[in-house]
Amino acid sequence: MTYILAHRGSAGTHPENTMEAFIAAEKAGADGIELDVQLAADGEIVVIHDLTVDRTTNGSGYVKDFTFEQLRKLKANFHSTHFFKKAARIPSLREVFEWLEGNGLICNVELKNNVKAYKGLEEKVISLIREFCLEGRVIISSFNHNSLVHCIQLAPDIQTAPLYKEVLFRPWDYARTLQASGIHPNFKCISPEDIEAAMDCGIAVRPYTVNKEKDMRKLFAINCSAIITDYPKKAYRIRNQY
Ligand code: G3P
Ligand code: CA
Repeated sequence: MTYILAHRGSAGTHPENTMEAFIAAEKAGADGIELDVQLAADGEIVVIHDLTVDRTTNGSGYVKDFTFEQLRKLKANFHSTHFFKKAARIPSLREVFEWLEGNGLICNVELKNNVKAYKGLEEKVISLIREFCLEGRVIISSFNHNSLVHCIQLAPDIQTAPLYKEVLFRPWDYARTLQASGIHPNFKCISPEDIEAAMDCGIAVRPYTVNKEKDMRKLFAINCSAIITDYPKKAYRIRNQY
């Protein structure tokens, strides 16, 4: 069965990377969530996509310059087109893991350290995964493949997958070179043949961000390992037909 991972939570229907979006994903029938992490000024691992808070909150400035307490005061649904009576907040990864303790969901943690170097981010994320005994349910991904290799060296028991957005020749070989257990390509950059070849080699393939019904159907039809989508409810309905 192809797993459904809700991109930044149910980001197509709720403010991205908020508890509201993650809870909605669970209600929609998703098998897991994808989220993005960075480090706040006080070292807290925070769940937010952009390097600045400008696009998704009522604040302005770099995430790294705010303490978690300051980030917490921002409205994380400020620019959202989705209507919420209650203001959504930027969660810490700890808060998400506390919630995960009560369900069986998978969590794909994307390290957003491709531009800004967050010193110690890998160690902190792995330490939190171990604290919550989530080794079997977390997949670490990143566009920063050096960072990913660092994670693999620190924690070879935790699943990892390089993110990429260009066509790769024999991506399963690349994953093996890194010693990663999977690959997370942009869905436009991988053919069904390459998906099947990778899975035959034991490499999990979880393309992103698969939002259109026709693209979902193609991946469900070949039993791709997982899809990452903004619309888990739609994906769940379509997957039931396979
Ligand atoms: O993990 C897949 C996807 O989230 C990567 O791109 O920019 O949405 O974080 P982005
Ligand atoms: Ca992401």
